[in-house]
Amino acid sequence: MLELIAKKRAGKALNVEEIRFFVRGICDGTIPDEQTAAFLMAVCFVGMEPEETAALTMEMANSGDVMDLSALQARTVDKHSTGGVGDKTTLILAPIVAALGGKMIKMSGRGLGHTGGTIDKLEAIPGFQTTLSANRMIEIGKKVGAVVVGQSGDLAPADKKLYALRDGTGTVQSIPLIASSIMSKKIAAGCSDILLDVKVGSGAFMKETSDALELAKEMVAIGRQVNRSVWAILTGMEQPLGNAIGNALEVNEALEVLKGGGPEDLRCVILALATRLVLLSLPERYKQDEKRAEADVKRVLSDNSALEKCKEMVIAQGGDPSFVTEGLPLSNVTTALLAEEDGYLSSLDGETCGFASALLGAGRMKKGESIDHGAGILLAKKVGDRVKKGDLLATLYASDEKHLADGMAHLRRAYAFSSSPVIPEKLLFYSVSPQGDVREI
Ligand code: URA
Repeated sequence: MLELIAKKRAGKALNVEEIRFFVRGICDGTIPDEQTAAFLMAVCFVGMEPEETAALTMEMANSGDVMDLSALQARTVDKHSTGGVGDKTTLILAPIVAALGGKMIKMSGRGLGHTGGTIDKLEAIPGFQTTLSANRMIEIGKKVGAVVVGQSGDLAPADKKLYALRDGTGTVQSIPLIASSIMSKKIAAGCSDILLDVKVGSGAFMKETSDALELAKEMVAIGRQVNRSVWAILTGMEQPLGNAIGNALEVNEALEVLKGGGPEDLRCVILALATRLVLLSLPERYKQDEKRAEADVKRVLSDNSALEKCKEMVIAQGGDPSFVTEGLPLSNVTTALLAEEDGYLSSLDGETCGFASALLGAGRMKKGESIDHGAGILLAKKVGDRVKKGDLLATLYASDEKHLADGMAHLRRAYAFSSSPVIPEKLLFYSVSPQGDVREI
C-alpha cells in the first residue's frame, strides 16, 4: 500500500491489479484507515486517469451484491439525481418510461438533513411496499415496466467505507472520487443504462456549473469504459424544484404533472430528463430522434397513460391507488407565511427550505428517525415573482404547533427580496450524451 500511495503521490496511474488490491484491502480491513486516507488525499491533489477511475468504479461496484436484472431480457434504465430539494422527478419519470414501453427499475434512498428521499415520498402512499424480493421486482418489471424500491442487500460496501473516510478527511470534493462513488452504486443496482441529473447551484452539491460539467463528463466517460450508456443532464438547483416540499405534498404535485399540469419549472425538468430516458431505453424505436421522443413524452402526460402506469405501479407494489383521484392527506396544523414588504422575490434558498421542511416533521436529521408524511411546505411564490405586502408566500403543514413554529422560524430565513425585477436562474444547462457530446440545452 505504501508503494501505491507513493506512486499516486508522484502523479502516476495505478493499474487494474493495484486498484483491486486497494479496494479488497479496504473491505477486508488489511489496509489501515490512515493509509487509505493518505491515498485519498493524493488522489485529491493529482486526480486519476479515466481508466483508473473506471477500474475503481468497477471494483467498488463488485465489492458487494450486484443486482441481476438479466431475467427481464430488456434494456433497463435507472436515473440518479445528485440531490436537491423538492425533487420528485422519479415518481413521474418511472411511469412515463413504462407508458412508452421501456423498463425503469430503480433503487432509491431515504432523505437525510435538507434533502428528501424518494422512498419516504412513496411510503406516504398507504400500503406501498418499498422492500421487494428480487423475483417480485423482475415480475413487476416485466408486467408494469416501472419498479421503485429502497436499497436492499449490501451494494458497493467499499464505497460506504471510502465515503465515511472521505467525509472525515476533507477528501469528498474530488471529481474522480465523486464520479466513481456515484457510478459504483448505480452499476451495482444492475441497470444497463443510466440517466444522471447533475444539479447545479446554491442548493446543490456542485455549486459551480464548471465543476458540475466536469463531474457529468467523468461519469459519462466511466459509462463508456464499462459498457453502460450514461447520459447526464445539468439542471439548476438555485431554489426548490416545483412548489411542494415534503412527502405527501410532493406525491400530490407529481400527480398534477402526470395529469398534464403541474408547475412550469418541474414540467420543464421532467421533459428534459424523460426525453433522454426514453432515448436510452428505446434506442431502436427513437434512433436518437429527440423531437420524437419529447413529443411522445408530452403525449403520455396529456392522455393519462403515464398516470395509469403510476396507478399500476402503486397497485403492484401493494399501495392503495385511491390517492390518484383524491390526493394524499396532509398534516392538519397549518399556517401561512406572508410577505412583509412589497418587492420581487430574489432568492429562495433550497437548503434552508429543505431544513425548514425537516423541522416541520417531513425529514430527519439522523438516520432512522421517523417522519411525518403529511408535513411540509407548499410554496406560493418562486424567484422572480412580484409580491405585495400580505401576499401568501407559502403554506406550512405540521402535526403540532411546536413543529409548525420551528419550521416557520427557519423558513423565513430562506427568502430575500429586491425592489427591482429579478430574472430567475437558468433551469437547464448542458446535456452530455453517452458519446460524450456536450450541448447547451
Ligand atoms: N454522492 C455520492 O454518492 N458520492 C459522493 O462522493 C458524493 C455524492
